[in-house]
Amino acid sequence: MARILAGLGSPHAPAVGAAVDRHDEQSAYWKPLFDGFVPMRAWLERVRPDTIILFSNDHFTSFFLDVIPMFAIGAAAEHEIADEGWGKRPLPPVPGDTAFAQHLACSIAADGFDPAVCHRLPLDHGCLSPLSALLPWTPRWPARVIPILVNVLHFPIPTPARCYALGRAVRRAVASYPQDRRVVVLGTGGLSHQLTGERYGFINPQWDAEFLDRLESDPDSLAALDHRQLIERGGTESVEVILWLCMRGALSRQVRRVHRNYYHATLTGYAQVLFEDTEGATTGAGAQR
Ligand code: DHB
Ligand code: FE
Repeated sequence: MARILAGLGSPHAPAVGAAVDRHDEQSAYWKPLFDGFVPMRAWLERVRPDTIILFSNDHFTSFFLDVIPMFAIGAAAEHEIADEGWGKRPLPPVPGDTAFAQHLACSIAADGFDPAVCHRLPLDHGCLSPLSALLPWTPRWPARVIPILVNVLHFPIPTPARCYALGRAVRRAVASYPQDRRVVVLGTGGLSHQLTGERYGFINPQWDAEFLDRLESDPDSLAALDHRQLIERGGTESVEVILWLCMRGALSRQVRRVHRNYYHATLTGYAQVLFEDTEGATTGAGAQR
């Protein structure tokens, strides 16, 4: 049976993927971020999960203003590398898991969520920046990836509470999958940043630290905030931290923090976390409602 071993949080800005491609991880600018990936990479290499359920968002790459699903799940056998306008990154296609993705879609639909099921969903920086920072891809990617994309770009977007509940539903869906799968959930994006308007460049490290504390020990209190409250504290684009709430919702109530790192660069508060699940990982007992 499938079980969730851990939840990871990672930034997903395009600059992170570009730094990987330029082999720039050890530069003075990037080292404080990439040092934060080292324990996560080591954990992944040791534990070897076979499936990553990746909460991210599309950035007008696979969807545009004509159609933006609130929630979309990638069910292709293989996910293409998207061309975001400057050519495809030199990465092989990312393996998917059609049967497991279909199961997740059916299970969360029965649980009150209605995802668009996408049999073609080229991945942009929202997925590829974290994947390429966390995993090797030669000779092949070591895990299958099931992307769950949440609309964070164009209002209306789902509430923090809805995203947290989606994570809970994904947890139940994983627990009810009969095949053996060793799953990690990955939340991506933020933390504080604002890329538009009067507060362009706004970063709030104090709020980011509080967000990470509460994500670990009191996620319900974050789920109770509204978009305006998140935006006031973290800047407009930081509202994508709802993707981290999806990840946290998929974990046990209590988590074991294995790793946490924070670095604020020019425009964005970058955070990394690794929380081990305290239920499924040890007991295989699966979901808790
Ligand atoms: C940028 C883009 C993103 O999608 C994001 O989440 C953070 C930063 C950027 O273009 O800098
Ligand atoms: Fe983004």
